[in-house]
Amino acid sequence: MKLYIVKDYDEMSEKVADVIASQIILKPDTVLGLATGTTPIGAYDKLIEYNSQGKVDFSEVKTVNLDEYWGIAPDHEQSYRYFMDKHLFKRVNIPYSSTNLPNGMAPGKEEECVRYDTVISDVGGIDLQLLGLGHNGHIGFNEPDGIFYKDTHIVDLTQSTIEANSRLFASMDEVPRQAITMGVGPVMSAKLVVLAVSGEGKAKALRDSLSGPVTPKVPGSILQLKDELIVVADREAAALL
Ligand code: GLP
Repeated sequence: MKLYIVKDYDEMSEKVADVIASQIILKPDTVLGLATGTTPIGAYDKLIEYNSQGKVDFSEVKTVNLDEYWGIAPDHEQSYRYFMDKHLFKRVNIPYSSTNLPNGMAPGKEEECVRYDTVISDVGGIDLQLLGLGHNGHIGFNEPDGIFYKDTHIVDLTQSTIEANSRLFASMDEVPRQAITMGVGPVMSAKLVVLAVSGEGKAKALRDSLSGPVTPKVPGSILQLKDELIVVADREAAALL
């Protein structure tokens, strides 16, 4: 593991974007595992800038996102598909057909989980997986649980996640109660994992993930089994390390 403690959100964003840009320059047909949330927005902005300056070319890149809310359509403003289109895909030269997310409106839950695992294996697995961290240590939507789930699965969101994510919805009632998420299998099989963490609200989750016991009660703690891990945390998030 490499740990970079940087000054603030902007420095974190630049560092993360530079790692992703370097990966794409070295391997233009990179498969990126991507995350949503507030954390990666700054890094995506930087990548858009690098792309417009001709420094990074997304034309051969493929992406697989971690997760999606269950029960909301791709064109819903709070869907993760909408988020990714808005914050990255429609602003860089990536072919739209090379971008993949689970479909939260698929007719069958089990079928959609199997389909998404097939998508991940069909692209050949992930070269670089970008992760944020939930306040309770979740990665993707792998919530604290009794076991680690390896494959794509449906999760019941915890009350704390519903509350944390409600800031982006008109009211708490509108936050979906379920999500579909990549399991820890493809994340841990990625050639490189980049964990980005910002703000004091994440300090405990980051400490528990990196130095507590490896337990599904803190999903991020499974990253302790990953040598090829880059953690970029700002000072506030790293305060308890
Ligand atoms: C959501 C996403 C996660 C993300 C987490 C943290 O629950 N499913 O992938 O890491 O939120 O979000 P934020 O970066 O906004 O704190």
